[in-house]
Amino acid sequence: MTASNDATLELTDIAVHYGAVRALDGVSLGIRRGEAVAVMGPNGAGKSTVLKAIMGLAPVVAGAVYWRGQRLEAATHDIVKEGICFVPQGRRVFTHLTIEENLEMGCLYLGDDTEKQRRLDSVMELFPILHDKRRDMASQMSGGQQQMLALGRGLMGAPDLLLLDEPTLGLAPIVVGEVFEKVREISERLNTTIMVVEHNIKGVLDIVDRGYVLDKGRVVHEGTPQSIRDTDILTDVFLGRVNPEREEAAG
Ligand SMILES: Nc1ncnc2c1ncn2[C@@H]1O[C@H](COP(=O)(O)OP(=O)(O)O)[C@@H](O)[C@H]1O
Ligand SMILES: [Mg+2]
Repeated sequence: MTASNDATLELTDIAVHYGAVRALDGVSLGIRRGEAVAVMGPNGAGKSTVLKAIMGLAPVVAGAVYWRGQRLEAATHDIVKEGICFVPQGRRVFTHLTIEENLEMGCLYLGDDTEKQRRLDSVMELFPILHDKRRDMASQMSGGQQQMLALGRGLMGAPDLLLLDEPTLGLAPIVVGEVFEKVREISERLNTTIMVVEHNIKGVLDIVDRGYVLDKGRVVHEGTPQSIRDTDILTDVFLGRVNPEREEAAG
C-alpha cells in the first residue's frame, strides 16, 4: 500500500533525535482503517520511538504525523480524546488500585457514567479474568493477567487506533499465545485499528495484515506477513547484515 492513498494514520519522513542519537531517520509508514500492522526489528531499532512520536512523547525534529488527514500535534491527553490509545511497554498497571479502578483510569476524562459502565462491561466480557478479579488489587495478578489489564485499560478509551508496545515481552510462552489471541480478537471482533510493536516476530506475523521491519531508525522492509516470511530480511536485520548508515547528528 502507499500510505497516502487511504491511510487513517500516516507518518511522513519522521526524524527523532535524542541528543546525538538519531532514533528515527526518515520513517514513513501508514495504516488503514481496520488494519492490524506490526512494527518489528531488533532492540534499539526505534520501534517504541515510532509509537511515542505518534503520541507526542518523542522529540520529533522533522516530518509529520497525520491522523484522518489532519496533522496531529495535540498534547498527549488530547490525542487520547482523538481516539488513539497507547499501551506502553512493561504493562504499567496501578498496583495499589483494584482491577476495576485500573480500568476506570482508561477513561478518566469521560463524564458519562452510563458510557463508562458500558465500556467496563464490554472489556470484562472480552477478558473474563478481569471480571472475576475485579475487586482484587492489580498487584495480586500474574504478568499475563497484568498485560490483559493493560490491554483492557487501553480499550476503555474506546480507541479507533490502539498502539501496543511489546505486549508479550517477558511473558511465559503459554501466556504469549493468549495475549496474541486477544489482540487478534480486538482487531477482528471490535474492528479496532491496531499498530503493534513486537520482538516476537513469529507470533505477531500470525495476527497482522501487514508489517514493517525497522532497523537503525529506518524502515528496511514493508509487506504482508507472507512476503516477510519469504525474505531473509528479518534474519539479516537481527544478525546485523543490513547496515543503513546512521551517522551521529552533529552536536
Ligand atoms: N529517552 C531517550 N534518550 C536517549 N536515547 C534514547 C531515548 N529513548 C530511546 N533512545 C535511543 O533511541 C534508539 C531507539 O530506541 P527505541 O525506540 O526505544 O528502540 P526499540 O523500541 O526498537 O528497542 C536507541 O538507540 C535508544 O537507545
Ligand atoms: Mg521498545
